[in-house]
Amino acid sequence: MIVILGIESSCDDTSAAVLRDGVVLSNVIASQKVHEAYGGVVPELASRAHQQNIIPVVHEAIRQAGIEIKDINAIAFTRGPGLLGSLLVGTSFAKGFAIANKLPMIEVNHLQAHILANFIKEPGKESRHPSFPFLTLLVSGGNSQLIIVHDYLDMEMIGQTIDDAAGEAFDKCAKVMGLPYPGGPVIDRLAKDGNPERFSFNKPQISGLDYSFSGLKTSFLYFLRDELKKNPDFIQENLNDLCASLQKTVIDILMDKLKKAAKQTGIKQIAIGGGVSANSALQKAVHEEAARCGWEVYIPRLGYSVDNAGMVAVTGYYKYLSGQFIGLDTVPFARTTLD
Ligand code: KG4
Repeated sequence: MIVILGIESSCDDTSAAVLRDGVVLSNVIASQKVHEAYGGVVPELASRAHQQNIIPVVHEAIRQAGIEIKDINAIAFTRGPGLLGSLLVGTSFAKGFAIANKLPMIEVNHLQAHILANFIKEPGKESRHPSFPFLTLLVSGGNSQLIIVHDYLDMEMIGQTIDDAAGEAFDKCAKVMGLPYPGGPVIDRLAKDGNPERFSFNKPQISGLDYSFSGLKTSFLYFLRDELKKNPDFIQENLNDLCASLQKTVIDILMDKLKKAAKQTGIKQIAIGGGVSANSALQKAVHEEAARCGWEVYIPRLGYSVDNAGMVAVTGYYKYLSGQFIGLDTVPFARTTLD
């Protein structure tokens, strides 16, 4: 039996999880509310909050799992990419825990963890996992990538954003409309009562499989600025249509490259992950395309698609099986790719 304690602290969620043989026993997430007032994550505040949350969160994960510290075989932690100050809290905690309890440490790449979230098993539930190779669209507040997954620990990035991530586009445009942070889920909700064809915004013309979202953000900003000059109540009067049209543009951009990647690689097993994978219009678009093209679609349950330690622990589990441990001299990294 292999028990892994996973730690995630790459951005603004402090999370700890316990997995036994790939089955999640607990997955505790403490989201930081402190950033709401600023309309985005403030790095220094994030690391301070991690510092306060990490011990109670780990304590709770161990309690909920019904295990004791002596049952743990290894500690897996997110080493990067992410905010350095945030990552330092999780990494330092993992080192202290490893030394105190004489445990091996496993470093986890946050992107890889989002992908392997598809392999988390839940107790007493039928699990459905993609088979290799599969294609992943990873979309969150910090990532927009297309990845071929050849095996648990063998992944190939074939496209990525050259500027903003899709979640960032949602959040920044939401901020311009005066909506609370994070804006993605709010736009999703408001878009349900809006007309997605009402307004149109610039779509990037980027060759290959890369994404770009900064142009959309600028186009949205200028459009609102011009309309507000004519009518100061433009946003309030058109909020649902604005959200629906913006959301449609983001989803069209994401789907366009996903379809292209599926066609180029011939892969029909499609997984989506990251916070934006919760978007109802994205899920609908992926399922519609699946029905048209015979894709098999995999989306982790909400608690495992956002930043969480369950995905870190499951990655740690596969690394444990292949003997990939790391020494105490390890340091976090803010930026990286999968390659
Ligand atoms: O993976 P995640 O929890 O963590 C970070 O990358 O920090 O993703 C958060 C992102 C935010 O940008 C948020 O606005 C977006 O995911 N998001 C959504 C939805 N739920 C979360 N975007 C659009 N529609 C949603 N339903």
